[in-house]
Amino acid sequence: MNVIGIETSCDETAVAVVADGRYLLSNVIASQSDLHAAHGGIVPEVASRQHIRHISRIASQAVDEAGLDWKDIDAVAVTHGPGLAGALIVGVNTAKGIAASLGIPFLGVNHLEGHIYAAWLDKAMVQQTAPEVRFPLMCLITSGGHTDLIVMAGHGQFNLIGQTRDDAAGEAFDKVARVLGLGFPGGPEIQRVARPGNRAGHLPRAWLRGTEDFSFSGLKTAALNKAKSLGLYPSPPEGADPGLVAELAASFQDSVVDVLVTKTVSAAERYGCRGILLGGGVAANALLRQEIEVQSPLPSMIPPAQLCTDNGAMIAACAWYSLTSGKRSSLDLDILPRLRLGIKLD
Ligand code: KG4
Ligand code: ZN
Repeated sequence: MNVIGIETSCDETAVAVVADGRYLLSNVIASQSDLHAAHGGIVPEVASRQHIRHISRIASQAVDEAGLDWKDIDAVAVTHGPGLAGALIVGVNTAKGIAASLGIPFLGVNHLEGHIYAAWLDKAMVQQTAPEVRFPLMCLITSGGHTDLIVMAGHGQFNLIGQTRDDAAGEAFDKVARVLGLGFPGGPEIQRVARPGNRAGHLPRAWLRGTEDFSFSGLKTAALNKAKSLGLYPSPPEGADPGLVAELAASFQDSVVDVLVTKTVSAAERYGCRGILLGGGVAANALLRQEIEVQSPLPSMIPPAQLCTDNGAMIAACAWYSLTSGKRSSLDLDILPRLRLGIKLD
């Protein structure tokens, strides 16, 4: 079954074709980050307008690059939440148009569930059988808008056990990068410049012991205060010392990764999980990926870095599991900008 997946919840206009929930036939992504970079963050109306301009071309390109015709597409899946309302509407209406004109099944997908299913994509298209997954899995979904710990008991079965109480981890990366005069999005920039050193010292960790929740706003403020005391913020007229920026970036990255990894590994043990799964843009971070592998005694499922950030393939992969069990959305499906994943367990 060839599923076309459409993702426009934030600032990427992304469409992909995935066969049988796993084989990536095409994956086209038009990123708007250069446009938003000038503002240091995403401007919702700019995002919606860019989606409107590009979505038709990106969808046709995804079908072409898959080596298919529209008549070969069996179903259409789209992110209908969570995300920016005006941005979601563009993808959802495009998907409805495709479904109505081709007379094929249509399904709205939760973006967070999509991030989880990126781990099932077989980019090289070499595996003959689906990866053997031992449930329950402890899933850490960490992106620009979310830092969620979710127990996945089986396909389509999710329980939220922890979340951020303030900033998401990716949001903290973006804000600290801005303080350090680095580009947007901040996560890849912090990773690129980070070099260990002792001039920035050790930044705090909010453990929130006894809970599976996270908090990154105190760390963000500590990084800002450290940047001020080191003379890096506001930007010095003669330009910042790149060595100092590199050391502060590394201290910040260490703190985020330490908390994410330690809490995920211990929650996995507490909930009797048999594996750990990472998803969302921050899961592209090399240190996070490495430390999960080093510190977790359990097998880990981590998508390739390019499939951690927003894409249409994860939406198509996720939809396949629901479509094959008969799930469909009707053409009056609404957007759900504040959609969550999983019932909160205390
Ligand atoms: O999942 P995503 O593409 O969009 C949302 O659903 O939010 O995540 C984007 C976030 C941004 O905050 C970005 O800075 C962060 O993921 N990110 C990273 C890395 N690549 C992207 N954070 C840390 N290290 C990276 N290599
Ligand atoms: Zn995302």
